[in-house]
Amino acid sequence: MSHIKIKNENLISEVIIDRQEALNAMNPDVLSELTDAVQKVISDEKTGVIIITGEGNKAFIAGADIKAMQQMNAEEALRYGKAGQKLTLMIESSSKPVIAAINGFALGGGCELAMACHMRVVSENASFGQPEVKLGLLPGWGGTQRLPKIVGVGKAVELITTGKIINAEEAYRIGLANKICSSNQLMNESKNLATEILKNGPRAISSSLRCIKDGLTMNIEKGMEIEVEEFSELFRYEERMEGLTAFIEKRDPKFRQ
Ligand code: CAA
Repeated sequence: MSHIKIKNENLISEVIIDRQEALNAMNPDVLSELTDAVQKVISDEKTGVIIITGEGNKAFIAGADIKAMQQMNAEEALRYGKAGQKLTLMIESSSKPVIAAINGFALGGGCELAMACHMRVVSENASFGQPEVKLGLLPGWGGTQRLPKIVGVGKAVELITTGKIINAEEAYRIGLANKICSSNQLMNESKNLATEILKNGPRAISSSLRCIKDGLTMNIEKGMEIEVEEFSELFRYEERMEGLTAFIEKRDPKFRQ
């Protein structure tokens, strides 16, 4: 049985993890299905923004599957770890913005998947943590790499070495959450954010995402070189003429059909 659902409306694709009996924990099968689903929506012409969420209001994703990991040897864990990393890299490199709509627990691999998304909209009952050390493990799906970039080294070390769980308010305070809302408004707020993005030029959005991502791993000179190349490249496309002309004509630009 598939644990992943995809819904598409008005250029917004929702990818929903539905394994509520295990708080949407991702065993190897769920991970593989989610990877296929994310790949599919990234390359789908009718998708402009992607929202990833968990079914129900208790959990986004409670992590990698602890019961499955109890049975793994080191080689199997390497494959599982690499499969999780592949998914987070795919999300982070997406040419379309990916929003995590976080409705409850985002722990371990769930927090790591959320951090690979470009933005995080969270419900008041959301909680975050990298509790792997409590299991004698470490965050294996990119957590040691992305958390320091999002919240700073000191806070990341504190969260990873204590394994403590923080609430939505604290996540917002340290920059892990973009926005907090009530549980029943979570999807509306996430879609409002997506709709705001969809008003803008799709090529300009993709280029911006690429510059931001690549810039995080290079020096400022190299980052700005890429930025100015992407900036000039946009002048080859009709999209920027529509944007510039709409401003001059005092009307809204029409970037998408
Ligand atoms: N893996 C497998 N099953 C899980 C799970 C997980 N990560 N998290 C929860 N479940 C299962 C529980 O075992 C339970 O199933 P059973 O009824 O069959 O026992 C069901 O989901 C409901 O969970 P609880 O009864 O524990 O619910 P709760 O409300 O009392 O507690 C919780 C909720 C605090 C999130 C608790 O379930 C918990 O601590 N879960 C584990 C969180 C965690 O440590 N995640 C990190 C995993 S390691 C990782 O992700 C590695 C990596 O970086 C790749």
